[in-house]
Order: sequence, then structure tokens, then C-alpha cells
Amino acid sequence: MNYTEIQALVNSDMQAVNSLIQKRLQSDVVLVNQLSHYIINSGGKRLRPMLALMMARACGYQGCKHIDIAAIVEFIHTATLLHDDVVDESDMRRGKDTANNVWGNQAAVLVGDFLYSRSFEMMVDVNQMRVMQILAQTTNIIAEGEVLQLLNINDADTNEARYLEVIYSKTAKLFEAACQLGAVLSELPKEQEMQAAQYGIHLGTAFQLVDDILDYNADSSKLGKNVGDDLAEGKPTLPLIRALTVSEEKGNSNDVALIRSAIEKGGLDYIDDILLIIEKTDSLNYTNEVAKKETQRAIDCLGFLPESKFKTALQELALFSISRTS
Ligand code: IPE
Ligand code: IPE
Ligand code: MG
Ligand code: MG
Ligand code: MG
Repeated sequence: MNYTEIQALVNSDMQAVNSLIQKRLQSDVVLVNQLSHYIINSGGKRLRPMLALMMARACGYQGCKHIDIAAIVEFIHTATLLHDDVVDESDMRRGKDTANNVWGNQAAVLVGDFLYSRSFEMMVDVNQMRVMQILAQTTNIIAEGEVLQLLNINDADTNEARYLEVIYSKTAKLFEAACQLGAVLSELPKEQEMQAAQYGIHLGTAFQLVDDILDYNADSSKLGKNVGDDLAEGKPTLPLIRALTVSEEKGNSNDVALIRSAIEKGGLDYIDDILLIIEKTDSLNYTNEVAKKETQRAIDCLGFLPESKFKTALQELALFSISRTS
């Protein structure tokens, strides 16, 4: 199954999600409308809503609240992207200028807040305390993750464990919620709900690990984002953390000093040297191996589901999270 075939399985659901998204973007404030439509309709993969829909279907859900959940999850994702591009000072997203580049930081932050708060209005409409609990906790953890990451920036002592904690919070948590909610709506036993949640965590972790690889080796026009942003910001992601660890183990003090200084100062002055060290230490392959393990763990969580094309699609989506180029 390729990505288009996977999409086709939930095509009518996804159309309903997209109409709901358009409907709930509505605001009387022109700038809110302009900016939110710009980002929402700029060609995101809609992976999180797809996971919510697919998990609900795989669990045999027959109602229509999965449409709301999927739209809410995409609103939260989009709000975090608006904020993220301000924090990361990024100027390209989905192959276009970032919203902060077009309208400025203030507008991007405030419309991000609009999307966040609109998603809470939509949660209330779903009218299930458990759904509200999961999503409220999720947005809180995402915010903590971004702050935690801020503390790691320019800190060359950030280790793999601290990095994994950040990516769980900032990225995997929303994948977890999307998948868990599919099971919650279907009223599955708690144990199975937890398996669905774990699937989301492992897939989301793999997804961010690959995002961090792509930040070093992707084709920027395919990725739709600038490459090298993480290094420029002095952000210690796994490729860099691994390169530092291996250089230390080998006693390669020049390389150690170079990487530490790149993390502490940020900037792209030494990008070529850093790329060479990453290559020499096989750090992208190492990161990819960690991602692959996470993907396998995700797939192993799906045992509780009865066989169906939706279950197969969930397996494929886990594999997609590491084979993707955008
Ligand atoms: C980007 O997510 C943010 C990360 C967690 C890496 P996606 O790659 O899913 O973004 P879109 O929605 O497809 O643009
Ligand atoms: C994803 O991290 C953060 C969010 C959860 C919004 P990145 O900062 O690496 O995401 P991109 O690469 O800008 O999409
Ligand atoms: Mg970013
Ligand atoms: Mg970021
Ligand atoms: Mg990134």
C-alpha cells in the first residue's frame, strides 16, 4: 500500500474533516481568516488526522466523532507550527513563506492562539470528559516540550535521554492522543486503549527522529522546509548528539571541540566540517536505526486489532514515518 492508497481508505472521512476545518476556521477578524487559511491550506500531509481516523476505523468505530477529533488534532498541530516557526525563526514551511515571514511574528503567534482556543471550543462540542482530559493534557505536554527544548538549545551537554524526552513531549504526544482517541471513541478496554496510545508514541518518536535526520540531509525543495535550521539554531538533535558521543569515545578532541562550539554558538559557519564528522561517525545511520526500532515497536502494538485493511494501513503508516522524504 502506498500513501495514496492509504489515503483512499479514509478519503470520505478526510473530506468531512477538511470541510469541518474550513467551517471552524471562520472568524469575523479578517487577518485571522487570511492567515489561518494560508497555513491550513498550504499542503500539509494531514498525518495526525489520518491516524485518528484510521485507528477509529480499525477499532470498528461506527459513529462520527472521529471527524471532530481529527479536525481538532490538526488545529492543534497547525497552532504548534505557527508558534514553532516564530520560535525557530524559520522562513519556509510546506514550500511557501512561513506565516511569520508574511505577516510578522505577532500575527503568527496570535493566530496560533486562535487555533488553539478554537480547538478547545471544538473539544467541548464533542462533549466527552475523557476526550477533553486527553487533549487538554496533550496541549500542556507539548508546551512543556517546547520549553524543555529551549533549555537544551546551545547546551552541548544535552544527552540522548534529554533529547528523547523533548521529542516525546513536543511531537510524539500529539500522535499518541490522535491514536488513543480512536480507541477511546470505540470504547475499547483500557488495555487496548493503551496499546493504541503506545503505537502513537512510537510512531511519533520515529517521525521526529526522521525529521531531525532530514534537517541534515534532505532536499529542501522536496521537504518544503529549509535544511540546516537545527544546526543554525544550536539545537542538539540526535545526529549531532551521536556525533559528539562517538567523537568523545574515539578521543577525537578536535571534532569534539568543533561540535561543542557549533551547539553553543549556533550558526552555519562550520556546517561542512560538521557534516563530515556526522558522516565519519555514521550518526545519521545511527539515528535512522533508532527510528526503525521505534517503528517496529509501533507495529508490535497493533496486535490487539482484528485483521482489516485499516490495520494494514496503520502498519504501513508506521513504515512511512521513516521512509518519507517530506
Ligand atoms: C512537522 O510535522 C512538525 C514535526 C513534528 C516534525 P509534519 O511533517 O507532519 O507537517 P505537515 O503538516 O505535513 O506540514
Ligand atoms: C517540531 O519540531 C515541533 C513541533 C511539534 C511543532 P521542528 O521544529 O523540528 O519542526 P519543523 O522541522 O520546523 O517542522
Ligand atoms: Mg521548527
Ligand atoms: Mg522547533
Ligand atoms: Mg525539524
